[in-house]
Amino acid sequence: MIITIIGHGYVGLVSACVFADFGNEVYVIGHNKEKINRLKNGDPLIYEPGLKELLEKNLKARRLHFTLDYSKAIPQSEIVFITVGTPPKENGEADLSAVFEVSRNIAKNLGSHFTVISCKSTVPVGTNKKVELILEKHAPKKSQFAVASCPEFLREGTAIADTINADRVVIGSSSKKAIDLLLKLHEPINGKKIITDLASAELIKYTANAMLATKISFANLISFYCEKTGADVEMVLDAVGLDRRIGRVFMYPGLGYGGSCLPKDVLALIDTGKKLNIDVSFLESVDKINQQAKENFLKKILNYHQGKTIAIWGLAFKPNTDDIRFAPSIFIIENLLKQNFQIKVYDQEATENIKKIFGGKITYCKDPYQAAEGSDQLAILTEWNEFKQIDLKKIKKLLKNPLIFDGRNIYDPKLMKKLGFKYYSVGR
Ligand code: UGA
Repeated sequence: MIITIIGHGYVGLVSACVFADFGNEVYVIGHNKEKINRLKNGDPLIYEPGLKELLEKNLKARRLHFTLDYSKAIPQSEIVFITVGTPPKENGEADLSAVFEVSRNIAKNLGSHFTVISCKSTVPVGTNKKVELILEKHAPKKSQFAVASCPEFLREGTAIADTINADRVVIGSSSKKAIDLLLKLHEPINGKKIITDLASAELIKYTANAMLATKISFANLISFYCEKTGADVEMVLDAVGLDRRIGRVFMYPGLGYGGSCLPKDVLALIDTGKKLNIDVSFLESVDKINQQAKENFLKKILNYHQGKTIAIWGLAFKPNTDDIRFAPSIFIIENLLKQNFQIKVYDQEATENIKKIFGGKITYCKDPYQAAEGSDQLAILTEWNEFKQIDLKKIKKLLKNPLIFDGRNIYDPKLMKKLGFKYYSVGR
Protein backbone atom coordinates (compact mmCIF):
# COMPACT_ATOMS: atom_id res chain seq x y z
CA MET A 1 0.00 0.00 0.00
CA ILE A 2 1.03 3.64 -0.31
CA ILE A 3 0.55 5.51 2.93
CA THR A 4 1.50 8.87 4.40
CA ILE A 5 2.41 9.67 7.96
CA ILE A 6 2.39 13.26 9.11
CA GLY A 7 4.84 13.83 11.93
CA HIS A 8 8.09 12.01 12.68
CA GLY A 9 8.20 11.80 16.47
CA TYR A 10 8.21 8.55 18.44
CA VAL A 11 4.83 7.45 17.06
CA GLY A 12 5.19 8.76 13.50
CA LEU A 13 8.71 7.61 12.74
CA VAL A 14 8.38 4.21 14.41
CA SER A 15 5.07 3.52 12.60
CA ALA A 16 6.58 4.70 9.30
CA CYS A 17 9.61 2.42 9.65
CA VAL A 18 7.52 -0.59 10.72
CA PHE A 19 4.96 -0.20 7.90
CA ALA A 20 7.78 0.35 5.37
CA ASP A 21 9.50 -2.76 6.69
CA PHE A 22 6.34 -4.74 5.93
CA GLY A 23 6.81 -3.73 2.28
CA ASN A 24 4.56 -0.67 2.06
CA GLU A 25 5.63 2.57 0.44
CA VAL A 26 5.60 5.21 3.14
CA TYR A 27 5.80 8.99 2.85
CA VAL A 28 6.60 10.96 5.99
CA ILE A 29 5.71 14.65 6.01
CA GLY A 30 7.43 17.11 8.34
CA HIS A 31 7.60 20.88 8.50
CA ASN A 32 11.28 21.52 9.22
CA LYS A 33 13.67 21.31 6.26
CA GLU A 34 16.76 20.61 8.33
CA LYS A 35 15.06 17.73 10.19
CA ILE A 36 13.69 16.24 6.97
CA ASN A 37 17.19 16.31 5.46
CA ARG A 38 18.64 14.57 8.50
CA LEU A 39 15.91 11.90 8.34
CA LYS A 40 16.66 11.40 4.61
CA ASN A 41 20.25 10.73 5.63
CA GLY A 42 19.28 8.08 8.18
CA ASP A 43 19.34 10.19 11.36
CA PRO A 44 16.18 9.33 13.38
CA LEU A 45 16.56 12.55 15.45
CA ILE A 46 15.60 10.63 18.60
CA TYR A 47 17.11 7.71 20.43
CA GLU A 48 14.93 4.62 20.29
CA PRO A 49 16.53 1.16 20.32
CA GLY A 50 16.64 -0.39 16.81
CA LEU A 51 15.12 2.65 15.09
CA LYS A 52 18.24 3.89 13.31
CA GLU A 53 18.85 0.45 11.80
CA LEU A 54 15.22 0.11 10.65
CA LEU A 55 15.30 3.63 9.17
CA GLU A 56 18.53 3.01 7.27
CA LYS A 57 17.30 -0.36 5.99
CA ASN A 58 14.04 1.04 4.60
CA LEU A 59 15.66 4.17 3.16
CA LYS A 60 18.04 1.89 1.29
CA ALA A 61 15.11 -0.19 0.01
CA ARG A 62 13.52 3.11 -1.19
CA ARG A 63 10.29 2.39 0.66
CA LEU A 64 10.60 5.43 2.95
CA HIS A 65 10.36 8.99 1.65
CA PHE A 66 10.68 12.16 3.74
CA THR A 67 9.22 15.38 2.42
CA LEU A 68 7.84 18.79 3.34
CA ASP A 69 5.47 18.69 0.38
CA TYR A 70 1.91 17.41 0.93
CA SER A 71 1.23 17.35 -2.82
CA LYS A 72 3.95 14.73 -3.34
CA ALA A 73 2.47 12.29 -0.84
CA ILE A 74 -1.25 12.76 -0.15
CA PRO A 75 -2.78 12.41 -3.64
CA GLN A 76 -1.37 8.89 -4.09
CA SER A 77 -1.92 7.61 -0.54
CA GLU A 78 -4.69 5.22 0.49
CA ILE A 79 -4.19 5.94 4.16
CA VAL A 80 -2.96 9.11 5.85
CA PHE A 81 -2.00 8.97 9.52
CA ILE A 82 -1.82 12.10 11.66
CA THR A 83 0.86 11.65 14.32
CA VAL A 84 1.64 15.23 15.31
CA GLY A 85 2.03 16.34 18.93
CA THR A 86 -0.89 17.31 21.18
CA PRO A 87 0.99 18.99 24.07
CA PRO A 88 -0.84 20.27 27.14
CA LYS A 89 -1.80 23.94 27.38
CA GLU A 90 -1.42 25.83 30.70
CA ASN A 91 -4.90 24.65 31.79
CA GLY A 92 -4.22 20.98 30.94
CA GLU A 93 -6.33 21.05 27.76
CA ALA A 94 -4.70 19.23 24.80
CA ASP A 95 -3.40 21.69 22.21
CA LEU A 96 -4.93 20.47 18.97
CA SER A 97 -3.72 23.27 16.72
CA ALA A 98 -1.20 21.04 14.91
CA VAL A 99 -3.84 18.34 14.31
CA PHE A 100 -6.23 20.86 12.79
CA GLU A 101 -3.54 22.57 10.72
CA VAL A 102 -2.35 19.33 9.13
CA SER A 103 -5.99 18.30 8.55
CA ARG A 104 -6.45 21.42 6.41
CA ASN A 105 -3.28 20.61 4.46
CA ILE A 106 -4.39 17.01 3.92
CA ALA A 107 -7.83 18.15 2.73
CA LYS A 108 -6.44 20.50 0.11
CA ASN A 109 -4.25 17.76 -1.36
CA LEU A 110 -6.67 14.82 -1.46
CA GLY A 111 -6.81 12.94 -4.78
CA SER A 112 -9.89 11.52 -6.48
CA HIS A 113 -9.57 7.98 -5.08
CA PHE A 114 -10.82 6.93 -1.63
CA THR A 115 -8.50 7.96 1.24
CA VAL A 116 -8.68 7.15 4.94
CA ILE A 117 -7.51 9.90 7.27
CA SER A 118 -6.68 8.42 10.61
CA CYS A 119 -5.48 10.04 13.81
CA LYS A 120 -2.78 8.15 15.69
CA SER A 121 -2.08 11.16 17.89
CA THR A 122 -3.80 11.02 21.28
CA VAL A 123 -6.77 13.35 20.91
CA PRO A 124 -9.70 14.07 23.24
CA VAL A 125 -12.96 12.34 22.50
CA GLY A 126 -14.81 14.27 19.79
CA THR A 127 -11.67 15.53 18.00
CA ASN A 128 -11.95 13.22 14.99
CA LYS A 129 -15.43 14.60 14.33
CA LYS A 130 -13.85 18.06 14.17
CA VAL A 131 -11.17 16.72 11.80
CA GLU A 132 -13.98 15.35 9.61
CA LEU A 133 -15.62 18.80 9.47
CA ILE A 134 -12.31 20.43 8.47
CA LEU A 135 -11.82 17.85 5.72
CA GLU A 136 -15.35 18.36 4.42
CA LYS A 137 -14.80 22.13 4.33
CA HIS A 138 -11.42 22.13 2.55
CA ALA A 139 -11.36 18.96 0.40
CA PRO A 140 -11.89 19.20 -3.38
CA LYS A 141 -15.42 18.26 -4.51
CA LYS A 142 -14.22 15.13 -6.37
CA SER A 143 -12.43 13.65 -3.34
CA GLN A 144 -13.73 10.66 -1.40
CA PHE A 145 -12.55 10.10 2.14
CA ALA A 146 -13.45 8.81 5.59
CA VAL A 147 -12.06 9.51 9.03
CA ALA A 148 -10.88 6.84 11.45
CA SER A 149 -9.32 6.84 14.89
CA CYS A 150 -6.42 4.43 15.23
CA PRO A 151 -4.71 5.19 18.54
CA GLU A 152 -1.16 4.06 19.16
CA PHE A 153 -0.16 2.20 22.32
CA LEU A 154 3.63 1.93 21.91
CA ARG A 155 5.97 2.80 24.77
CA GLU A 156 9.20 4.69 24.29
CA GLY A 157 12.21 2.45 24.74
CA THR A 158 10.36 -0.59 23.35
CA ALA A 159 8.49 1.19 20.56
CA ILE A 160 9.33 -1.11 17.64
CA ALA A 161 8.53 -4.33 19.49
CA ASP A 162 5.32 -2.78 20.89
CA THR A 163 4.20 -1.77 17.40
CA ILE A 164 4.82 -5.18 15.85
CA ASN A 165 3.54 -7.17 18.83
CA ALA A 166 0.70 -4.93 19.94
CA ASP A 167 -1.72 -6.10 22.65
CA ARG A 168 -4.50 -4.79 20.43
CA VAL A 169 -5.11 -2.69 17.33
CA VAL A 170 -8.02 -0.33 17.79
CA ILE A 171 -9.81 0.97 14.71
CA GLY A 172 -12.71 3.35 15.20
CA SER A 173 -14.75 4.49 12.23
CA SER A 174 -18.25 4.52 10.81
CA SER A 175 -16.91 3.70 7.34
CA LYS A 176 -16.63 0.01 6.41
CA LYS A 177 -14.28 0.90 3.56
CA ALA A 178 -11.96 2.74 5.97
CA ILE A 179 -12.02 -0.12 8.47
CA ASP A 180 -11.20 -2.67 5.74
CA LEU A 181 -8.23 -0.64 4.49
CA LEU A 182 -6.87 -0.20 8.02
CA LEU A 183 -7.36 -3.90 8.76
CA LYS A 184 -5.42 -4.73 5.59
CA LEU A 185 -2.52 -2.47 6.59
CA HIS A 186 -2.40 -3.79 10.16
CA GLU A 187 -2.71 -7.44 9.14
CA PRO A 188 0.96 -8.34 9.87
CA ILE A 189 0.70 -6.78 13.33
CA ASN A 190 0.03 -9.24 16.12
CA GLY A 191 -2.73 -8.43 18.58
CA LYS A 192 -6.49 -8.52 18.66
CA LYS A 193 -8.16 -6.14 16.22
CA ILE A 194 -10.91 -4.13 17.92
CA ILE A 195 -13.39 -2.32 15.69
CA THR A 196 -15.30 0.52 17.34
CA ASP A 197 -16.98 3.84 16.71
CA LEU A 198 -14.86 6.99 16.65
CA ALA A 199 -15.63 8.16 20.19
CA SER A 200 -14.91 4.78 21.79
CA ALA A 201 -11.56 4.51 20.01
CA GLU A 202 -10.57 7.98 21.23
CA LEU A 203 -11.63 7.15 24.78
CA ILE A 204 -9.89 3.74 24.81
CA LYS A 205 -6.55 5.50 24.51
CA TYR A 206 -7.22 7.92 27.39
CA THR A 207 -8.69 5.17 29.53
CA ALA A 208 -5.58 3.02 29.07
CA ASN A 209 -3.16 5.84 29.90
CA ALA A 210 -5.24 7.10 32.84
CA MET A 211 -5.42 3.54 34.23
CA LEU A 212 -1.64 3.14 33.91
CA ALA A 213 -1.13 6.49 35.66
CA THR A 214 -3.59 5.42 38.37
CA LYS A 215 -1.65 2.21 39.04
CA ILE A 216 1.59 4.17 39.44
CA SER A 217 0.03 6.81 41.69
CA PHE A 218 -1.59 4.07 43.76
CA ALA A 219 1.81 2.39 44.23
CA ASN A 220 3.29 5.76 45.24
CA LEU A 221 0.45 6.42 47.68
CA ILE A 222 1.09 3.06 49.36
CA SER A 223 4.81 3.91 49.51
CA PHE A 224 3.89 6.98 51.61
CA TYR A 225 2.05 4.69 54.05
CA CYS A 226 5.10 2.39 54.14
CA GLU A 227 7.49 5.23 54.92
CA LYS A 228 5.34 6.33 57.88
CA THR A 229 4.92 2.83 59.29
CA GLY A 230 8.17 0.98 58.56
CA ALA A 231 6.49 -1.38 56.08
CA ASP A 232 8.31 -2.28 52.85
CA VAL A 233 6.40 -1.20 49.74
CA GLU A 234 8.07 -3.75 47.46
CA MET A 235 7.04 -6.60 49.79
CA VAL A 236 3.52 -5.20 50.08
CA LEU A 237 3.07 -4.82 46.32
CA ASP A 238 4.75 -8.17 45.52
CA ALA A 239 2.24 -9.91 47.79
CA VAL A 240 -0.76 -7.88 46.62
CA GLY A 241 0.29 -8.35 42.99
CA LEU A 242 0.01 -12.13 43.31
CA ASP A 243 -3.74 -11.64 43.32
CA ARG A 244 -4.43 -12.19 39.62
CA ARG A 245 -7.22 -9.63 39.72
CA ILE A 246 -4.65 -6.97 40.63
CA GLY A 247 -1.26 -8.02 39.16
CA ARG A 248 2.16 -6.51 39.79
CA VAL A 249 2.94 -4.94 36.42
CA PHE A 250 3.09 -1.15 36.23
CA MET A 251 2.83 -0.78 40.00
CA TYR A 252 6.36 0.35 40.74
CA PRO A 253 6.64 3.32 43.07
CA GLY A 254 9.40 5.87 42.63
CA LEU A 255 9.47 9.36 41.22
CA GLY A 256 6.07 9.20 39.57
CA TYR A 257 5.22 9.01 35.89
CA GLY A 258 6.91 11.38 33.47
CA GLY A 259 7.17 11.47 29.70
CA SER A 260 5.11 13.07 26.99
CA CYS A 261 2.05 10.84 27.47
CA LEU A 262 0.78 9.88 30.91
CA PRO A 263 1.10 13.36 32.54
CA LYS A 264 -0.52 15.17 29.62
CA ASP A 265 -3.23 12.56 29.04
CA VAL A 266 -4.37 12.59 32.68
CA LEU A 267 -4.59 16.40 32.50
CA ALA A 268 -6.47 16.28 29.19
CA LEU A 269 -8.95 13.72 30.56
CA ILE A 270 -9.52 15.98 33.57
CA ASP A 271 -10.14 18.89 31.19
CA THR A 272 -12.56 16.85 29.05
CA GLY A 273 -14.36 15.66 32.21
CA LYS A 274 -14.82 19.22 33.43
CA LYS A 275 -16.25 20.24 30.08
CA LEU A 276 -18.69 17.31 30.34
CA ASN A 277 -19.63 18.25 33.91
CA ILE A 278 -18.12 15.07 35.37
CA ASP A 279 -16.58 15.05 38.86
CA VAL A 280 -12.88 14.65 38.09
CA SER A 281 -11.56 14.61 41.67
CA PHE A 282 -10.37 10.99 41.27
CA LEU A 283 -8.13 11.87 38.33
CA GLU A 284 -7.01 15.07 40.05
CA SER A 285 -5.78 12.93 42.94
CA VAL A 286 -3.85 10.70 40.54
CA ASP A 287 -2.09 13.81 39.22
CA LYS A 288 -1.56 15.25 42.71
CA ILE A 289 0.05 12.04 44.04
CA ASN A 290 2.34 12.05 41.02
CA GLN A 291 3.58 15.49 42.05
CA GLN A 292 3.87 14.39 45.70
CA ALA A 293 6.09 11.44 44.68
CA LYS A 294 8.68 13.88 43.29
CA GLU A 295 8.34 16.26 46.25
CA ASN A 296 8.71 13.41 48.74
CA PHE A 297 11.99 12.33 47.13
CA LEU A 298 13.30 15.91 46.99
CA LYS A 299 12.51 16.33 50.69
CA LYS A 300 14.66 13.29 51.51
CA ILE A 301 17.64 14.86 49.74
CA LEU A 302 17.07 18.25 51.39
CA ASN A 303 16.67 16.69 54.86
CA TYR A 304 19.51 14.17 54.78
CA HIS A 305 22.18 15.57 52.42
CA GLN A 306 25.76 15.69 53.68
CA GLY A 307 27.07 18.61 51.63
CA LYS A 308 26.09 20.63 48.60
CA THR A 309 27.65 18.58 45.79
CA ILE A 310 25.40 15.90 44.39
CA ALA A 311 25.86 13.33 41.64
CA ILE A 312 22.73 12.52 39.65
CA TRP A 313 22.47 9.30 37.64
CA GLY A 314 19.67 9.17 35.09
CA LEU A 315 17.95 12.12 33.43
CA ALA A 316 15.58 10.51 30.91
CA PHE A 317 11.97 10.02 32.06
CA LYS A 318 12.57 6.26 31.80
CA PRO A 319 15.41 4.01 30.61
CA ASN A 320 16.20 3.32 26.92
CA THR A 321 15.17 6.74 25.69
CA ASP A 322 16.73 10.19 25.40
CA ASP A 323 13.36 11.81 26.10
CA ILE A 324 13.24 14.23 29.05
CA ARG A 325 9.74 15.63 28.55
CA PHE A 326 8.08 15.85 32.00
CA ALA A 327 11.05 13.89 33.39
CA PRO A 328 11.26 13.96 37.21
CA SER A 329 14.95 14.89 36.78
CA ILE A 330 13.95 18.40 35.64
CA PHE A 331 11.93 19.02 38.81
CA ILE A 332 14.70 17.64 41.06
CA ILE A 333 17.52 19.58 39.36
CA GLU A 334 15.53 22.85 39.29
CA ASN A 335 14.83 22.60 43.02
CA LEU A 336 18.36 21.57 43.99
CA LEU A 337 19.72 24.53 42.00
CA LYS A 338 17.41 26.82 43.99
CA GLN A 339 19.07 25.43 47.14
CA ASN A 340 22.54 26.17 45.67
CA PHE A 341 23.59 22.56 45.09
CA GLN A 342 26.46 21.82 42.69
CA ILE A 343 25.09 19.12 40.41
CA LYS A 344 27.07 16.56 38.41
CA VAL A 345 24.85 14.59 36.06
CA TYR A 346 25.24 11.44 34.00
CA ASP A 347 22.81 9.75 31.57
CA GLN A 348 23.82 7.53 28.68
CA GLU A 349 21.38 9.10 26.19
CA ALA A 350 19.59 12.16 27.59
CA THR A 351 22.50 14.50 28.43
CA GLU A 352 22.27 16.56 25.23
CA ASN A 353 18.57 17.22 25.84
CA ILE A 354 19.12 18.22 29.49
CA LYS A 355 21.90 20.58 28.34
CA LYS A 356 19.29 22.51 26.34
CA ILE A 357 17.49 23.31 29.62
CA PHE A 358 20.27 23.75 32.16
CA GLY A 359 23.23 24.81 29.97
CA GLY A 360 26.23 25.81 32.11
CA LYS A 361 24.35 25.60 35.44
CA ILE A 362 25.26 21.95 36.01
CA THR A 363 28.22 19.69 35.18
CA TYR A 364 27.89 16.91 32.59
CA CYS A 365 29.85 13.71 33.18
CA LYS A 366 30.93 11.04 30.71
CA ASP A 367 30.30 8.09 33.00
CA PRO A 368 28.65 7.30 36.36
CA TYR A 369 32.00 7.08 38.16
CA GLN A 370 33.03 10.57 37.08
CA ALA A 371 29.75 11.94 38.46
CA ALA A 372 30.26 10.19 41.79
CA GLU A 373 33.89 11.24 42.21
CA GLY A 374 34.20 13.88 44.92
CA SER A 375 30.40 14.29 45.28
CA ASP A 376 28.91 14.51 48.77
CA GLN A 377 26.10 12.10 47.78
CA LEU A 378 24.45 10.39 44.85
CA ALA A 379 20.83 10.42 43.64
CA ILE A 380 19.44 7.90 41.13
CA LEU A 381 16.55 9.19 39.04
CA THR A 382 16.30 6.70 36.13
CA GLU A 383 16.75 2.93 36.40
CA TRP A 384 19.15 2.41 33.48
CA ASN A 385 20.50 -1.17 33.45
CA GLU A 386 24.10 0.02 33.72
CA PHE A 387 23.48 1.19 37.32
CA LYS A 388 21.98 -2.08 38.54
CA GLN A 389 25.19 -4.07 38.90
CA ILE A 390 27.69 -1.24 39.01
CA ASP A 391 30.78 -1.60 41.22
CA LEU A 392 29.29 -0.16 44.41
CA LYS A 393 32.51 -0.61 46.37
CA LYS A 394 34.24 1.66 43.85
CA ILE A 395 31.35 4.15 44.07
CA LYS A 396 31.73 4.20 47.86
CA LYS A 397 35.39 5.09 47.52
CA LEU A 398 34.68 7.82 44.95
CA LEU A 399 31.91 9.53 46.95
CA LYS A 400 32.87 11.80 49.85
CA ASN A 401 30.11 10.20 51.93
CA PRO A 402 28.56 6.75 51.45
CA LEU A 403 25.13 8.26 50.86
CA ILE A 404 22.68 7.28 48.11
CA PHE A 405 19.14 8.51 47.39
CA ASP A 406 17.52 5.99 45.07
CA GLY A 407 14.30 7.15 43.40
CA ARG A 408 13.80 3.83 41.57
CA ASN A 409 14.48 1.19 44.24
CA ILE A 410 17.17 -0.56 42.20
CA TYR A 411 19.28 -1.90 45.07
CA ASP A 412 18.57 -4.23 47.97
CA PRO A 413 18.51 -2.17 51.20
CA LYS A 414 20.09 -5.04 53.18
CA LEU A 415 23.02 -5.26 50.76
CA MET A 416 23.47 -1.49 50.84
CA LYS A 417 23.60 -1.58 54.61
CA LYS A 418 26.16 -4.38 54.48
CA LEU A 419 28.28 -2.36 52.06
CA GLY A 420 28.20 0.52 54.55
CA PHE A 421 25.94 2.90 52.63
CA LYS A 422 23.35 5.18 54.11
CA TYR A 423 20.64 4.37 51.60
CA TYR A 424 17.31 6.16 51.14
CA SER A 425 14.93 4.57 48.64
CA VAL A 426 11.15 4.81 48.15
CA GLY A 427 8.68 3.22 50.55
CA ARG A 428 11.26 0.99 52.21
C1 UGA B 1 2.88 5.37 27.77
C2 UGA B 1 2.05 4.09 27.73
O1 UGA B 1 2.66 3.08 28.53
C3 UGA B 1 1.92 3.57 26.29
O2 UGA B 1 1.10 2.43 26.24
C4 UGA B 1 1.33 4.68 25.43
O3 UGA B 1 1.22 4.31 24.06
C5 UGA B 1 2.21 5.91 25.51
O4 UGA B 1 2.31 6.33 26.89
C6 UGA B 1 1.57 7.00 24.68
O5 UGA B 1 0.48 7.45 25.03
O6 UGA B 1 2.11 7.32 23.60
P1 UGA B 1 5.52 5.89 27.72
O7 UGA B 1 5.14 7.28 28.08
O8 UGA B 1 6.47 5.67 26.59
O9 UGA B 1 4.21 5.03 27.35
O10 UGA B 1 6.20 5.20 28.98
P2 UGA B 1 5.72 4.25 30.17
O11 UGA B 1 6.45 2.99 30.07
O12 UGA B 1 4.25 4.19 30.24
O13 UGA B 1 6.28 5.04 31.45
C7 UGA B 1 5.72 6.30 31.83
C8 UGA B 1 6.29 6.77 33.12
O14 UGA B 1 5.81 6.00 34.20
C9 UGA B 1 7.82 6.71 33.24
O15 UGA B 1 8.28 7.91 33.83
C10 UGA B 1 8.08 5.54 34.15
O16 UGA B 1 9.27 5.67 34.89
C11 UGA B 1 6.87 5.61 35.06
N1 UGA B 1 6.51 4.31 35.68
C12 UGA B 1 6.11 3.27 34.92
C13 UGA B 1 6.54 4.19 37.07
O17 UGA B 1 6.89 5.14 37.79
N2 UGA B 1 6.14 3.00 37.64
C14 UGA B 1 5.74 1.95 36.89
O18 UGA B 1 5.38 0.90 37.48
C15 UGA B 1 5.73 2.08 35.51
